[in-house]
Amino acid sequence: MKVLVTGGCGFIGTNFVRLMLKSHPDWSIVNLDKLTYAGNRLNLLDLEENEPRYQFVHGDICDRDLVMDLLDGGRIDAVVNFAAESHVDRSINDPSPFVVTNVNGAQNLMECARQRKIGRFVHVSTDEVYGTLGPSGKFTETTPLAPNSPYSASKAGADLLARAYFETYGFPVLVTRCSNNYGPYQFPEKLIPLMYLNAKAGKSLPVYGDGLNVRDWIYVDDHCRGVELTLTKGREGSVYNFGGNAEETNIFVVRTLLSILDRPESLITYVKDRPGHDKRYAMDFSLARKELGFAPTLNFSEGLARTVAWYEANGTWLEQVQSGEYRNFMDTWYEERSK
Ligand code: NAD
Ligand code: DAU
Repeated sequence: MKVLVTGGCGFIGTNFVRLMLKSHPDWSIVNLDKLTYAGNRLNLLDLEENEPRYQFVHGDICDRDLVMDLLDGGRIDAVVNFAAESHVDRSINDPSPFVVTNVNGAQNLMECARQRKIGRFVHVSTDEVYGTLGPSGKFTETTPLAPNSPYSASKAGADLLARAYFETYGFPVLVTRCSNNYGPYQFPEKLIPLMYLNAKAGKSLPVYGDGLNVRDWIYVDDHCRGVELTLTKGREGSVYNFGGNAEETNIFVVRTLLSILDRPESLITYVKDRPGHDKRYAMDFSLARKELGFAPTLNFSEGLARTVAWYEANGTWLEQVQSGEYRNFMDTWYEERSK
């Protein structure tokens, strides 16, 4: 199968490209990535240099001519769309790029794929489109969409367009909604790699609000397997939830990390809460279990240990991605939170 992956230089895309080329000797992958602050071409440079089944294309999913050209002439059988602006805090600062890429870009990809009669399109979405849960219950695929951040609203917008493309045109689209990923190559603005970096540097660890917000953590390879199963076995027009069966409070995650790194809890600083901060996420993925045979394979403590080991071995990668733009964003954000 010839797959167009978008956003393959980001966190999940990088892991997906590596895993799929390893598990499917008969697949080839074209990776279309704009290389925003979150995209790093070096993540897959070894494949660019040594793997003929992998091709990198620098470009924007909003660029109609480019996407039409990539999908021309039977060169691609399926599309998997990871490309997005993905960070909630950034969407609070400036929602515009989120609408441009996550809504308009996703629609452009679907429209080009429809015109080129592509046989399969997986749109990678998020549990955040469902909004927030109270102390009990889980999100199912029929939970109403109720996004609370500009990021999640933009993702929900694309999910609704996917639904409309299926209902209106019979477009062969499938949507995945997954909970919080962690693992190798995650950009250090997200909770786990940010806390890792700060703890290693002896800097304070900014926990939002009371630290009791709950996320359902899934190791990135398990999510990638879920996307693979959706692509190869899913029912067209369906939505599939994926989760890790690992509901943890943020403060538990931060304390566990400090204990693995043997750093003191006195580094923890409680800062002003994120506006519109969702209290709790938990995923019911029984549909994916039943129809696709999906189950997460790593529990949280194994996954976290593996993640820390990767960051310990990849200090150069962490240095590379901490550009001036990264530092500006983090400094400003932290200053605002600490007021
Ligand atoms: P990321 O921010 O690490 O990577 C996003 C990638 O998309 C980057 O390589 C970036 O350069 C690229 N990109 C951005 N705008 C683009 C554009 N206009 N055209 C082409 N490429 C563009 O994100 P991630 O954490 O890897 O998330 C990937 C996808 O999975 C996103 O759609 C996100 O909403 C979804 N998701 C993420 C999580 C999570 O926990 N990280 C969970 C569920 C779903
Ligand atoms: O649930 C899936 C989503 O998970 C994805 O769709 C998003 O792309 C991804 O960014 C992630 O969103 P979150 O907002 O949950 O992830 P983040 O790592 O930013 O935050 C995780 C939790 O930790 C959240 O409750 C906020 C809190 N937090 C985060 C940071 C960066 C802190 O307390 N302090 C911090 O410095």
